[in-house]
Amino acid sequence: MAEATFISAAHPSQGGPATYFRRSFDVADGLVRASLRVTALGVFKAYLNGSRLGEDVLAPTWTSYRHRLHVTTHDVTAALAAGENVLGAAVGEGWAVGPLSWDMVRENYSDRPALYAELTLEYPDRTEIVGSDETFLVGEGPVRENGIYLGEHYDARLESAWSEPGFDTRDWAPAQRLEWDLDALVEGEVPPIRRQQELAPVSIDRREPSRVIVDFGQVVSGWVRFTVKGEAGREIVLRHAELLTSDGELERETLRKAESIDTYVLRGGRSETWEPAFTFHGFRYVEISGWPGELDPDALRAIVIHTEMARTGSFDTSHALLNRLHENTVWSMRGNFVGLPTDCPQRDERLGWTGDLNAFAPTASYLYDVRPLLRSWLADLRAEQAETGRVPDTVPNILTQVMPDPTALWSDAAISLPWQLYQQYGDERILDESYASMVALMDQIEQRLDDGGLWSRGFQLGDWLDPDAPADNPAGGKTEAHLVAQAYLCKTTRELAATARILGHRADADRYDALSERVRRAFREEYVSPRGRVTNESATAYALAIVFDILDDDQLAHAGNRLAAIIAKSKFTIRTGFAGTPLVTDALTKTGHIDPAYRLLLQTTCPSFLYPVTQGATTIWERWDSVLPDGTVNKTGMTSLNHYALGAVADWMHREIAGLQRVAPGWSRIRIAPQPGGGLAHARAELETVRGTASSAWRLDGATLTVEAVIPEGSTAEIALPFTGESHEVEAGTHRWTYEIDPADAARGTLTIDSTLNEIVVDHEAWQRVLAVLQGAMPGIPIEAGLAHIGDQPLSALIAQIPAEGIAARITTALQNGES
Ligand code: BGC
Repeated sequence: MAEATFISAAHPSQGGPATYFRRSFDVADGLVRASLRVTALGVFKAYLNGSRLGEDVLAPTWTSYRHRLHVTTHDVTAALAAGENVLGAAVGEGWAVGPLSWDMVRENYSDRPALYAELTLEYPDRTEIVGSDETFLVGEGPVRENGIYLGEHYDARLESAWSEPGFDTRDWAPAQRLEWDLDALVEGEVPPIRRQQELAPVSIDRREPSRVIVDFGQVVSGWVRFTVKGEAGREIVLRHAELLTSDGELERETLRKAESIDTYVLRGGRSETWEPAFTFHGFRYVEISGWPGELDPDALRAIVIHTEMARTGSFDTSHALLNRLHENTVWSMRGNFVGLPTDCPQRDERLGWTGDLNAFAPTASYLYDVRPLLRSWLADLRAEQAETGRVPDTVPNILTQVMPDPTALWSDAAISLPWQLYQQYGDERILDESYASMVALMDQIEQRLDDGGLWSRGFQLGDWLDPDAPADNPAGGKTEAHLVAQAYLCKTTRELAATARILGHRADADRYDALSERVRRAFREEYVSPRGRVTNESATAYALAIVFDILDDDQLAHAGNRLAAIIAKSKFTIRTGFAGTPLVTDALTKTGHIDPAYRLLLQTTCPSFLYPVTQGATTIWERWDSVLPDGTVNKTGMTSLNHYALGAVADWMHREIAGLQRVAPGWSRIRIAPQPGGGLAHARAELETVRGTASSAWRLDGATLTVEAVIPEGSTAEIALPFTGESHEVEAGTHRWTYEIDPADAARGTLTIDSTLNEIVVDHEAWQRVLAVLQGAMPGIPIEAGLAHIGDQPLSALIAQIPAEGIAARITTALQNGES
């Protein structure tokens, strides 16, 4: 009985069968307690006497394995009995061995799956340890091929009692030791991935006698579990996709090289239930071929997986499309918090891109309690930063080509994420843990500044995926990449100065305050006119300068007006990428432009926030037009349908539409400041803060406005009542105000017969209803084409020219329908 080491088969796995390990051992009478510590290079399923242990899936989740490899501990006392017992584990390639990234590079951590297991048997008078070593046996089993991107090939005819006592081990060989630094093992720091939800099919479309396409109604991360009965040797193949083509077949373009195919070979006889264990897919549709006979929808379930996290925040309004946009954001978070925060869960990436998370962190930390996962992720970031001297572009990093310089928004995650988590949860330890890492990044950036304090050298990703950037250069948007970098530097220098002050590093705080002033001055000298016009004249440039407090107060109004004009000029379609999108609505509301902010948010014409929703999206897309209006996939090769970054606008929705604002870290101070508008009848945001429930809600009934706020114990709040200029100071509890407002304010953003066509087009559903009425009154006339040039005219002017009886009343009804 020896201490555990990592053990493996004698040969590399090369994408083939999973590795099965077993060890028979005796338990004497009088066992008091038994526990198992287990992990793997690869992903494992552990068994005792044939029974699967625990609820975790895809363990150990992907961390910076060389620095931090997570060990799971199970109390297994009840699973053991006196006499012979067997410990078994099946280990697939997972992230450690299988191919990763678009280059499909294999063996990023190990050339073969390996197991580490330490079983401790406690008796009244002694402790025995069964540790993984050469006394373990290695064999094969039903998993013939497996990979995170690839899928799983499972042959149920090869099932056996391999992890039970008495099994014939003639074909099994002794395990070999595999060198791995045991100091990298960590416990209790990494939350597990688990099954979270099951979805039933919403439709099953039979394409050929034994080929169907199943729609689960929602893009998710996970897999399909099924129950089937048929003859031995029959092969069932499941191919996954996020989208269908116009002729109802799978559109697998968005997966790129990730095959995402599961194959199951039937054992035969009794009914058999199966789900894969060594892969996961980003999908909504699955094509199933080879199914014997009729496919009963109850035989299938989509299993939704993600990291175990508590849901904390919700949001709801009277606007169906807006609610769906928010729901899509939640689903994209769920789909991408699978062990680590990823860019996307379906294609040959699924990497922890730092910038995506940095953009989305305010929203993520509202929707779920992300502390366990993101503290672990930050520990990985710090470990790799300390090793290589730079913040990796992806955490954990396996990319061989890395960006040569720190990049704004991406590298910034090292500073802005701890800062965001501290703000949300009020826990200074998060800042303390990351302080050295924050400073190290800032030192590097500082070295790249010119004498005037301008960050004007080196590669930047800029306003990544600006919709006006050339298709082959997502970093080449309208806004100069170094302007973006300088603006984010104004933010991170301030965050670092504040962090230093909180942690009591006073000299650092003064130094970073000075740096912050210096880089702000450099921004203004280089990019801002004395009156407040910002170079590039793009929505992103203005959004950055306004939200990051780069402009002086007397420049703000001018800049806000310029921004509003730019937004109006692009007809309220969206023109920002990863860097500008989280800020553009904030910049509008900060400068008093609430109506344009609503119109930007509620626009449905492509590119816009709601365009994907009108196309049936159930998650946030990577590009505004990942799917083009004709239903085909944008041919750029970067068209994930599940990318949370652009969902960052949800944070603004919580704060400004519903009005639930955090003023001090950990929600000790709150501001309730709803901004009714956009034709919405009500909105509500509710958050489980670290102090308890906080919520803000408003409802319009005609011109009667009700505002309700819930403030948790230990917090104080200011309630700014909309349209009154009044504000009230309150303590914990529920507070309600009902009052009359000016009918013109109540009608804000509501469409009427005097609204212009451009205003109405923004509301996709209302526009469709109006078109239907117009079309009915003027059959045969191509109305939409005719309206293209008179968008700025009120609808009433157009209607005046249509002789149809009662048309004004019908149009008014069409405009009002759909609002609750
Ligand atoms: C990812 C992005 C990421 C970007 C940066 C892409 O391939 O999907 O979301 O941030 O690369 O280079």
